[in-house]
Amino acid sequence: MSTKPGNTPALYDDLELFLAYDAMRMQDGTLNEVVEIPVLVSLMPELAGIAAADLGCGTGAMCRRLFEQGAASVTGFDASERMLSRARAQSPSTHNLHYVQADLEVLHLPPNSLDLILSSLALHYVVDFTAVAQRVTAALKPGGCFIFSVEHPVVTCNRREWLLGKDGARSSWPVDHYLDEGPRAIRWMGSETVPRHHRTIAGYVNTLLDAGLVLNRLLEPGPSEEAIARWPRLADQRRRPPFLLVKAEKPV
Ligand SMILES: C[S@@+](CC[C@H](N)C(=O)[O-])C[C@H]1O[C@@H](n2cnc3c(N)ncnc32)[C@H](O)[C@@H]1O
Repeated sequence: MSTKPGNTPALYDDLELFLAYDAMRMQDGTLNEVVEIPVLVSLMPELAGIAAADLGCGTGAMCRRLFEQGAASVTGFDASERMLSRARAQSPSTHNLHYVQADLEVLHLPPNSLDLILSSLALHYVVDFTAVAQRVTAALKPGGCFIFSVEHPVVTCNRREWLLGKDGARSSWPVDHYLDEGPRAIRWMGSETVPRHHRTIAGYVNTLLDAGLVLNRLLEPGPSEEAIARWPRLADQRRRPPFLLVKAEKPV
């Protein structure tokens, strides 16, 4: 596998951003824990004995989950050495679960080698999704699947901020410049200029189809009534979808 570095700066190696992100993920009732991860997990195939990769694995929670649930081999790829150090420190030391520093923009995986390629909230940073989709397709075994979550395109299209009414309350979520795919700089985790790469829903789906994958499922989940009763601050997340999740398969 080729992991030569690309041009992507390892955003999450910035200590302030890493600590802010880490603190956010440690909170009780995060959108990730309550909405994104359960839905991602619901899309997964039988894991026993499979070979899997996680693109943008962060601190490796999903890699450990796949391994603990029976995957024969799991490789997590991430650009951030800070993320990978944490992942390695929290994972059992075994040959079959390992982490590689790599830029997804240039990562080449061995052809027909993987049953499952997963990516959780990393692909909205990638500029060349067409190249990633083509390389994912080549790396999957026939029948293998690509499952990913991204920030929903109605979230990535604009500044990622609610419009406020005169009373200071959230009045609406602005969807603007939706059809203009490309880079955005947003206010996030205490920084004013965190990059995202916006794509439309059609952009994501048609790129997968053009790469030779078949769409299995497309989901736009939000918090359930039960989740909102427990964490009322999640209620606004039903006003627009926070995530887009996709499952696609390589034809047999
Ligand atoms: C929001 S975090 C999600 C981490 C993990 N998947 C999770 O859900 O806990 C996004 C991750 O994608 C990684 N990432 C972003 N762009 C990348 C790129 N071009 N190549 C490799 N990793 C990248 C970041 O370093 C970061 O660890």
